[in-house]
Amino acid sequence: MIPVTKPYLPSRDKLNTYIDGIYERGWLTNGGPLQQELTRRLEQYLGVKNLLLVSNGTLALQVAYKALEIGNRSSSITEAITSPFTFVATVSSLKWEGIKPVFGDIDPAGWCLTPDSIKENITPDTEVIVPVHVFGNACDVEEIDKIASQNKLKVVYDASHAFDVRIKGKSILSWGDASTLSFHATKLFHTVEGGAIVFKYESDLKRAQEIINFGLSDPHTISEIGINAKMNEFQAAMGLCVLDEIDENLAARKRIAEYYKTNLTKSIKVQELNESTPNNAYMPILFDDETQVYQLLDRLKNEGILARRYFYPSLNKTIYGSGSSCPESEYVSRRIVCLPIYSELDELSLAKIISIVNTVAEL
Ligand SMILES: Cc1ncc(COP(=O)(O)O)c(C=O)c1O
Repeated sequence: MIPVTKPYLPSRDKLNTYIDGIYERGWLTNGGPLQQELTRRLEQYLGVKNLLLVSNGTLALQVAYKALEIGNRSSSITEAITSPFTFVATVSSLKWEGIKPVFGDIDPAGWCLTPDSIKENITPDTEVIVPVHVFGNACDVEEIDKIASQNKLKVVYDASHAFDVRIKGKSILSWGDASTLSFHATKLFHTVEGGAIVFKYESDLKRAQEIINFGLSDPHTISEIGINAKMNEFQAAMGLCVLDEIDENLAARKRIAEYYKTNLTKSIKVQELNESTPNNAYMPILFDDETQVYQLLDRLKNEGILARRYFYPSLNKTIYGSGSSCPESEYVSRRIVCLPIYSELDELSLAKIISIVNTVAEL
């Protein structure tokens, strides 16, 4: 069986050594030394400040909205302009916080939320823009920044796919008021479950540190409405081990992505990348015709290969939509397939996948 992605399993010996340390200290969670070390090392590796580790990428989004005080204005409705072409958590996290998602549309080539569709959807109730660096492709951060400051809006980037993505040499995570990451097992950098928020301002980081620990500023003072979103020491141990091997993982993915791009027939469209450096976390392809998607998934399945319709359906067409129309997102969602990509994927398997994809593309 060839899955669409495979969790990266780092050196077992190294992980055991970290776990021995956890047993010796008996310190399992609540700001332990491994969580502190991973915070420092990630800030250094990614070239960012004000990074907060949390228990998953969904809570990273929810805590970011809370820390930025989205929804604290006196108006009864709070709106967020976001992308319909994303994983459901981008939008469910908004709803969960009582924020109404309003869908803009995506650019048909790069698949990120367009600045024009953000402008078109601004109302007096809009408080935040939640764009997604989808599949690690950077949104038009400069234009989004301008729109936000002209309209006094906050920006929270869902950067779940954008680990180590840079734009003009700078981390993509340094844009916006906050950027969130998912460290789920299937992500290129992971902590089994986990996530992080990178804040622009230290004051927001400080508030979020309390929010993820039940809103406590000290054991007897409740300063914020909080939640439990702390990362534990076992998660941090896995993260430290995965981070030690991240460069090899990234290099292997780069080779695989290049192999795909060189050998896939030219009639197949791939994501058009903006100026950002890709991390090759995903290998999405786009067909002209939706029926080719079904044919491909069937043929791959018969050979024991799992590809995935990712992201389908366009979220404006789900319980999170309110009859809105997002033609570009709906078009892409119906025709997209993510092909297998993970560091151990060998050339023989790759050649097999490519031959099936090319056959379907020529039908
Ligand atoms: C775009 C996006 N946002 C949010 C999430 C949620 O992250 P997590 O699974 O860590 O809660 C994911 C996870 O796959 C995602 O792809």
